[in-house]
Amino acid sequence: MGKVNLIHHPLLEHKLSIIRNKATDTKTFRENVNEIGSLVTYEVTRDLATRDVRVTTPIADTICQELAKDVVIVPILRAGLGMVDGIHDVIPTAKIGHIGIYRDEKTLEPQQYYLKLPSIVSEATILIVDPMLATGGSAVAAIDLVKKQGGKDIRFVALVGCPEGIEFLQKHHPDVDIYLVAIDDHLNENGYIVPGLGDCGDRLFGTK
Ligand code: PRP
Ligand code: URA
Repeated sequence: MGKVNLIHHPLLEHKLSIIRNKATDTKTFRENVNEIGSLVTYEVTRDLATRDVRVTTPIADTICQELAKDVVIVPILRAGLGMVDGIHDVIPTAKIGHIGIYRDEKTLEPQQYYLKLPSIVSEATILIVDPMLATGGSAVAAIDLVKKQGGKDIRFVALVGCPEGIEFLQKHHPDVDIYLVAIDDHLNENGYIVPGLGDCGDRLFGTK
């Protein structure tokens, strides 16, 4: 069963209160989603393997640690893009793939429209990123695609989830650990997380 990691930090709680607020403007919303992306990366990567590397300081040779594996960040378009710069700021060597998926408004079924992953995906630690884990349909479809291209070491990184989405994701991909800043109460009849933060893509890009 994929482990659910609920990340707590006063700064995360504070920023979450800003993005939940419907009065928050697009620029502030986008900045805070990005900053949350940076902050959660410390927890998401806490157990990554490292290996010895010899470094010459201005004073002497020494053995340091570097990441043992490449990291690939894979945002689910559109809303996942909102977290990419924040994560990339912290892992600047990471490669970035893109998966385009939107939910059909009536059926809530995920519809794929784009896929481009780096060739190293089968050897890398992959962070699939999407702020919202609602029904879990988009997350499951994205992980299916990454696995089809050889991805094995996958973590799913979101901001706000709900029990329905967590259960669906764990059922379909029990090998994928889930990272969240909040687990909300439930999904409403339109498939929105309650209390949630509304439509994350629209709020990031000002499309409504
Ligand atoms: C949102 C969100 C997730 C998806 C979550 O995307 O960014 O990708 O919904 O819902 P699910 O867990 O029920 O699949 P949306 O379909 O609104 O597309 P957009 O990001 O392009 O606006
Ligand atoms: N997608 C969003 O952007 N928000 C939700 O609450 C659910 C799905």
